[in-house]
Amino acid sequence: MATKYVNAVLSEQQGDGSLPVIDGVLGPSAVDIQTLYARHSLLAFDPGFRSTAACKSAITFVDGDKGILLYRGYPIEELAEHSDFVEVAYLLMRGELPTPLQRKNFDEAVGSHNLLHEQVLSFYRGFRRDAHPMAVMVGVVGALSAFYHDVMNIRDANDRQIAATRLVAKMPMIAAASYTYSVGRPQRYPNNKLDYASNFLQMMFGTPNREYIVDPVLARALDVIFILHADHEQNASTSTVRLAASSGANPFACIAAGIASLWGPAHGGANEAVLKMLMEIGSVENIPKAIARAKDKGDAFRLMGFGHRIYKNFDPRSRVIQAQAKKVLAHLGKDDPLLEIAMHLEEIALKDEYFIERKLYPNVDFYSGILLRAMGFPMNMFTAVFAVARTAGWVSHWLELQEESHGIDRPRQIYVGKTLRHYSEKK
Ligand code: SDX
Repeated sequence: MATKYVNAVLSEQQGDGSLPVIDGVLGPSAVDIQTLYARHSLLAFDPGFRSTAACKSAITFVDGDKGILLYRGYPIEELAEHSDFVEVAYLLMRGELPTPLQRKNFDEAVGSHNLLHEQVLSFYRGFRRDAHPMAVMVGVVGALSAFYHDVMNIRDANDRQIAATRLVAKMPMIAAASYTYSVGRPQRYPNNKLDYASNFLQMMFGTPNREYIVDPVLARALDVIFILHADHEQNASTSTVRLAASSGANPFACIAAGIASLWGPAHGGANEAVLKMLMEIGSVENIPKAIARAKDKGDAFRLMGFGHRIYKNFDPRSRVIQAQAKKVLAHLGKDDPLLEIAMHLEEIALKDEYFIERKLYPNVDFYSGILLRAMGFPMNMFTAVFAVARTAGWVSHWLELQEESHGIDRPRQIYVGKTLRHYSEKK
């Protein structure tokens, strides 16, 4: 079949085959192809969505060429320095930073929803002790839909805000319980005298037989990690949440789908994969071999924590996390040989033509594992920490999607299978 072409030319003249162009407030414009199939019986083909805007959104903006990340217009570096995670969650969910009264009310709402139903805690007993925390979180968060489905009307704006707040509030206990269960320790409950990050630390590492003293440096480092991981436009897990939400599914079930997608090593699972990679490299001397493997098309090995679909410059989050990792290690009087390997790896890779040509830079996951390990988190909890933070973004996109009505997301396909045939013809 002869190849055919559509010559799409940007023009101010409207012709027969012309399609309107939509401009955003920031970032690239888009050809509106919603009528393409109806008018021309043509589909657009874009596996991986490299050139496809699936929605309009006002929550987060990323300029991958300049390495810019804005939450509701605020630069991530400013929020990481001056804000805290609960305030950022409010900003993402509601669109503006809270007034003191709004913040007081939101704190009270989070504090009144941060406990898990005792029956939910019994779900943990159904998992093997060595179950990966992300497997547990997918199951437990999905199960929450059984507890709130009939008491929530997602058509009601107030019910939607309560469901979104419930999810942000409960995630620390859900994540902490997936760890304490795995080590056979009784689950601790939230202490509303503590802030969000401190509460998560005490639920993770506290024991019934001694008072848990929160280290403010670690609490602040964790709060910064939560801020940096809270949202990131239409990444794979957020797009998963949006697609599930487009069918009108229960928000807890939608967030469970997001957790499942985040777990992948190409996405949020990369922080755990980075540490395993650094351990496998083992020493600075082995870095050239690792770089060679990462460049070898015949080798499945990739430099985990490097590269990004959108960032073709430094991921602004990776710089902040690297600084926090150095600060926490110094505060604890530890030095981590893996940090030295990571920094050497970054330095060598960024001078290598392969990485320069492909604009591969360290992303948010490259240093986060080193910081989390320094704070005492086991490797299999790294992505669970990411999930706690990203819940703020996921519920914000869930809320935003409820306000628009493009209907269910239902992508089309290019069919390349068998043409019509009959069972009677079987051999
Ligand atoms: C997150 O989307 C988000 O916003 C995600 C996230 C968020 O906050 O939600 O930012 C969080 O998921 C960060 C990414 C974490 N993943 C990793 O660190 C895994 C390692 N990185 C790669 O798997 C990869 O870079 C991706 C998945 C992140 C991006 O892949 P793309 O955009 O599909 O890029 P690609 O596979 O088309 O790569 C382009 C070229 C290819 O080489 P060529 O075919 O052109 O010769 O770059 C190469 C790739 O082989 N390449 C790498 C590489 N990443 C890309 N080569 C070696 N090591 C790598 N890490």
